[in-house]
Amino acid sequence: MLLGVVLSLYHFFLYIQDDFDYTVCCKGMYMEYRETVSFVLNGIERKLETKRAWTLLYVLREVYQLTGTKYGCGTGDCGACRVLIDNVAVNACSVPIHKVDGKTVLTIEGVAGDPQLSIIQQAFVEAHAIQCGFCTPGMVISAAGLLLHISEPTEKEIREALKDNLCRCTGYVHIIEAVKLASNKMKEVEDGH
Ligand code: FES
Ligand code: FES
Repeated sequence: MLLGVVLSLYHFFLYIQDDFDYTVCCKGMYMEYRETVSFVLNGIERKLETKRAWTLLYVLREVYQLTGTKYGCGTGDCGACRVLIDNVAVNACSVPIHKVDGKTVLTIEGVAGDPQLSIIQQAFVEAHAIQCGFCTPGMVISAAGLLLHISEPTEKEIREALKDNLCRCTGYVHIIEAVKLASNKMKEVEDGH
């Protein structure tokens, strides 16, 4: 009884400080703290008040309407939600938003706006590596993460980089060909051809 009164007063104190939201769920009531997160998204500095439960995928799609990053499984198993964080490909559905504080995030929209990286998208089109296209943003992001670190990857390295990206439509032969084509095209641009 006394403990309940103390907790209620404590929660009321936090409430008037505007530090948290109450969420009622089947297990009872718990606190969900807000946190300000600063990061660079597709070259633009962002500062956002977030809730602990938010994932990066939620923020991209629901806050910034960057819906090119797809929601597939939501459990880190399909790669449809891949983005680059500090140039490393990760599944945005598995990244709590506070983990991107101070980092750079690049989505497929950022790739499309980058003259060099958008070559990868063109290569996917030319190599017929797309059917429904749902997996394609994640594939392109994984390819970008690879090609930013290894400009001329072997087929083994391409397969390794794409191993966590699932596609239901095309089979993977065209996709691997697309990454090889992108590598060649990017090199040609770098060499000034
Ligand atoms: S939606 Fe993130 S891995 Fe499937
Ligand atoms: S093109 Fe449809 S899931 Fe890959």
